Amino acid sequence: MAYLQPDKEGKVYLPAIRAAKERGEKLVCLTAYDYPTARIVDEAGVDMILVGDSIGNVIHGYGNTIPVSIEEILSACIAVKRGTERAMVVCDMPFGTYHVNEDESVRNALRLMKYGGAEAVKLEGGRNRVDLVRRLVNEEIPVVAHIGLTPQSVYKMGGYRVQGRTAEQAKRLIEDAKLLEEAGAFAIVLELVPRELAAMISKELKISTIGIGAGADCDIQVLVLHDLLGLTFGRQPRFVRQYANLREIMTDAIRSWSNDVKSSEYPNEHESYGLTDETKKEMAAQ
Ligand code: KIV
Repeated sequence: MAYLQPDKEGKVYLPAIRAAKERGEKLVCLTAYDYPTARIVDEAGVDMILVGDSIGNVIHGYGNTIPVSIEEILSACIAVKRGTERAMVVCDMPFGTYHVNEDESVRNALRLMKYGGAEAVKLEGGRNRVDLVRRLVNEEIPVVAHIGLTPQSVYKMGGYRVQGRTAEQAKRLIEDAKLLEEAGAFAIVLELVPRELAAMISKELKISTIGIGAGADCDIQVLVLHDLLGLTFGRQPRFVRQYANLREIMTDAIRSWSNDVKSSEYPNEHESYGLTDETKKEMAAQ
């Protein structure tokens, strides 16, 4: 069940995204998958929150985004929406939820909006998704497209590699971006493409580009929150700048608590509850 919130002054909807592009103002987007992180991200002033299918990697430990279900992303989206007042909430359509036919895709996107509280949906693909994007937009569903490295195609691509490096591939990506804009997408994620190509696409399009591993010239930058905070495992791609090491902070806190319990330092008198003097007297008299 989505939580309806009154419109807040400054709430980010599509017009705010368009206006920022026109002004040449950069915006920021981060992922979130639960209530507390959504609140923190929103209160920090981030403009767009993506309930990404990267939930499969960073929350569920699947190793990739393929197994993520609509129920998992719906549940995350509901929690994120509850924690968000200002940022636009965009929800990823998981693999398999927009692949069978247009009607089913519309139904799934509507579910994310009606029950998840999503204010826009994101889906991966280029020219092969143009008709679907047009249909979704026609049904009043704001759409973010996603080209370049599309993690849901990991098996087809054979890994996570920079896309659009040859002139032919670059040309194809520019064409895809234009077609998606024409179909009505209001923004396009450019993932892992050369910065020069991302700059060209950002300049050509009237809609916003959202870059991840695509250089500084995209209109909006997005990162996976857990990468930025140092809450992920294994080697990070070179575009990730880690601004904190929460893993270390969490490990230290957990070890300190554990040591305090074992040395009877925790809980102390103030961290527990006692009987009143009256009760003690009554009990002694029994
Ligand atoms: O799922 C996700 O987090 C994404 C971003 C990497 C853009 O799609």
